[in-house]
Amino acid sequence: MTIYRIVVATANPGKIRELRALLPSCFEAVTAGELGIKLPPETADTFAENALIKARAAAQSSGLVALADDSGLEVDALGGRPGVHSAHYAGEGATDRDNIQRLLKELRGVPLERRTARFRAVIALVAPDGREALAEGVVEGRIIEEPRGESGFGYDPIFQPLGSEHTFAEMSAEEKNQRSHRAQALQRALLVLQDWFSCSIEKSSRSDESRS
Ligand code: IMP
Repeated sequence: MTIYRIVVATANPGKIRELRALLPSCFEAVTAGELGIKLPPETADTFAENALIKARAAAQSSGLVALADDSGLEVDALGGRPGVHSAHYAGEGATDRDNIQRLLKELRGVPLERRTARFRAVIALVAPDGREALAEGVVEGRIIEEPRGESGFGYDPIFQPLGSEHTFAEMSAEEKNQRSHRAQALQRALLVLQDWFSCSIEKSSRSDESRS
């Protein structure tokens, strides 16, 4: 089987882990960091533009098809914040814990029924020949009052997807991947990659444990 190399334009270890676990076995994902590529700052105010900024830079520097994800949490009671500022909500250098604390503080006193939120992910694919595509995934849920669970990353301990009693951080990687915004966006992006490369996604073993 031919293995196609693509470059994943993110430095976030949590995202890299999730994307690698979801990619069919005909793709080998190398990261921009592994290729010594420095990614430009995410200066746009939409997920799509930020994903494109990263993917264009990685495709141009590597000569490979590049995949970049930009994602974040949109909280209705906060007018959609933190949105594109999710990673640094509590300031530059903020940890996941700092971001969670800021968000919970801002939501103090807001009743559960008004704590609706969603994770949104946009994946940009850019080929060195200039082809570009975007794929989006959304998962609706609520922000709970106290963090629960140890898995995942980012806001996972305070995000409870609709229809589940568990937060993302209380789920196994496989459970989260079955419903996450990133998994949905990636399924859509894979249809594009399938079109760009002759790799059959149906035949691939996505649950291959050696890849996770
Ligand atoms: P960026 O896409 O690198 O700008 O970062 C997105 C930020 O959104 C992450 O650093 C997390 O804080 C948050 N985020 C995105 N996806 C997830 C997720 O699946 N779980 C928890 N937090 C997430």
